[in-house]
Amino acid sequence: MTHPLQELRDAALAEIAAAGDVQALEAVRVLYLGRSGSISAWGEKMKTLSKEERPVVGKLLNEVRSAVTAALEESGEKLRATQEAGALAEIDISLPGTPHEIGALHPLTQMLDRAIGIFRRMGFALAAGPDVEDEWHCFDALNTAPDHPARNEQDTFYLPDGRLLRTHTSTVQIRAMESAPPPIRVIAPGAAFRRDEVDATHSAQFHQIEGLYVDERVSVADLKGALEFFLRELFGAETAVRFRPHYFPFTEPSFEIDVKSKALKSGEKWIEVCGCGMVHPAVFEEMNRARGDAAYDPEKWTGFAFGLGMDRLAMILFDIPDIRLFAQNDLRFLGQFA
Ligand code: PHE
Repeated sequence: MTHPLQELRDAALAEIAAAGDVQALEAVRVLYLGRSGSISAWGEKMKTLSKEERPVVGKLLNEVRSAVTAALEESGEKLRATQEAGALAEIDISLPGTPHEIGALHPLTQMLDRAIGIFRRMGFALAAGPDVEDEWHCFDALNTAPDHPARNEQDTFYLPDGRLLRTHTSTVQIRAMESAPPPIRVIAPGAAFRRDEVDATHSAQFHQIEGLYVDERVSVADLKGALEFFLRELFGAETAVRFRPHYFPFTEPSFEIDVKSKALKSGEKWIEVCGCGMVHPAVFEEMNRARGDAAYDPEKWTGFAFGLGMDRLAMILFDIPDIRLFAQNDLRFLGQFA
């Protein structure tokens, strides 16, 4: 005679064999072995059996449970394997992949990377300072008188608290000398801000590469040599470089530098790219006052400083006609430098 548990087992095994997918199989499991499944119910029934019957049925219940569990596991594994194989079969691995668009560096960044590489070979380290500055770092420490036109509200962005957006990166000259005694050899690339009328060659935000070199016996010849070397490395050996006398409050003598080269797309006209000069002794003296020492003794140390117009350099190098293109984020423009 077959026990009802054996009948349940046979029914379960038959349904397991018939289940066509993982979901159907799970339904069978719940039906028989779930919390209120018909095999599980026998666990409760055990309590109602006599002492003699209990061990016999208990053993049978265990056997039935493990037989059904084993069948469930085996069948589940098979069903999962077929389902995975089916899913993979739908993927045609010979199809071309989805193209992944690769970005590129902004032309100003490309230009800056080249510039840093050239100055690094000359032993210049990188320095940095904040875009939001105080008047002392931007003007006073740079020997710029209180009535100098650059300080005018028409020319400079002032914050309500009296600070300002730096009008040049020369602020970093001051910050570098505040934080270390000579010798110093740094470049400081960064943004500068002026209330300029915006047109093809002027922008309210532009970029400069500041440079400062302070050591014993630094001369105009060093200044000229370093900047000529830089410009010829950047634009080509045949580039003509012209120094014009100029005025800056924080350098003496001061110059502006123009370049011209047949190799450049801009062709046969002089283009101004840099302001520079020998550090004014008044700047060293103000540094000593601020530092509270005599580290920058103007009798012992001399130095040169320069401020290269980074946007201008990139415009010449890549033949870009309009400075506004740098900030417009137009992929038709940026894609040309990828
Ligand atoms: N800071 C000057 C400018 O923005 C350029 C400059 C830098 C001149 C360093 C001399 C020395 O025009």
